[in-house]
Amino acid sequence: MTNDLSTARPDTFLLGGDLPVRRLGFGAMRLPTGTFQGPPRDPGTGVAVLRRAVELGVNHIDTAWFYRRGTVVANELIRKALAPYRDGLVIATKVGPLLAADGVPRGEAGPGELRRLVEENLDTLGLDRLDLVYLRVGGMGGPGGEPVGERFAALAALRDEGLIRHLGVSNVDAAQLAEARAIAPVAAVQNSFHVHDRDDPLLAVCEQSGIAYVPFFPLGGGHRPIDAARVERVAARHGASAAQVALAWLLSASPALLAIPGTGSLAHLEENMDAARLRLTEDDLAVLTG
Ligand SMILES: NC(=O)c1ccc[n+]([C@@H]2O[C@H](COP(=O)([O-])OP(=O)(O)OC[C@H]3O[C@@H](n4cnc5c(N)ncnc54)[C@H](OP(=O)(O)O)[C@@H]3O)[C@@H](O)[C@H]2O)c1
Repeated sequence: MTNDLSTARPDTFLLGGDLPVRRLGFGAMRLPTGTFQGPPRDPGTGVAVLRRAVELGVNHIDTAWFYRRGTVVANELIRKALAPYRDGLVIATKVGPLLAADGVPRGEAGPGELRRLVEENLDTLGLDRLDLVYLRVGGMGGPGGEPVGERFAALAALRDEGLIRHLGVSNVDAAQLAEARAIAPVAAVQNSFHVHDRDDPLLAVCEQSGIAYVPFFPLGGGHRPIDAARVERVAARHGASAAQVALAWLLSASPALLAIPGTGSLAHLEENMDAARLRLTEDDLAVLTG
């Protein structure tokens, strides 16, 4: 089976050629804390958000072992909320960043440290094999262009061992993606991208190559407002929220794009999932990108 990218806005994408995922998924980074250095959130709410997300049809959850604040750990919430995992639920995780003593991701793992990080994900999620593991490189300022080959080859070896099903890369440029693809198939790219940050040339590369493009900060990351006048104008036309318009715009940007909005709020989750019903017109798209 292959992806048919000719349909205007398909609801599903075949990740890695064999895992059908709904294009509107869920990002788990906001469950332990709402901001990068904020206080821990209530774990009970996190469990409720995850269960409701799956009830609403999410079958693609994006996480990382380092999504944690104090004792509230995203992977442990996922396991508590959803294990034993239902068939067809795809959990994607990422390795690369190390965790500093203050609990904030800082510094990068070398190739020899990646096995430990993969095993930590397997342990905390309670899995024998991870569906999708991204090699996450560089800082928060966008791709840094550094070589990824040695680290990606280390992950490819873990894939060959059976610990990982598919590999991805995150926060990369075209040369880094090409370097990884020369080593092993890349099933997904996770870069920063949203309605006001649309310049990533890798979206087109992914679409042409059958690779999922999974933007992080799909709602601007909570610190780059997506509720600018253009978005508000389109939202008002549809009686929708700015977040819903931002998500609908992403889903219309490419059939290879998988949205993973992050929230620790049940109300925001319901609102975000409802965005799947919003169909933007050509005129809306012109307003948003004009
Ligand atoms: N690869 C990487 O480097 C990387 C980096 C960052 C994130 N990620 C992944 O990408 C996912 C998405 O990114 P993200 O969570 O950082 O950012 P995001 O989805 O762009 O935005 C999340 C922020 O928006 C708020 N929000 C969510 N829904 C809302 C709504 N309907 N109305 C108003 N505000 C809303 C959230 O607050 P509330 O929680 O209060 O709703 C949170 O502050 C993450 O969860 C994570 O899985 C990956």
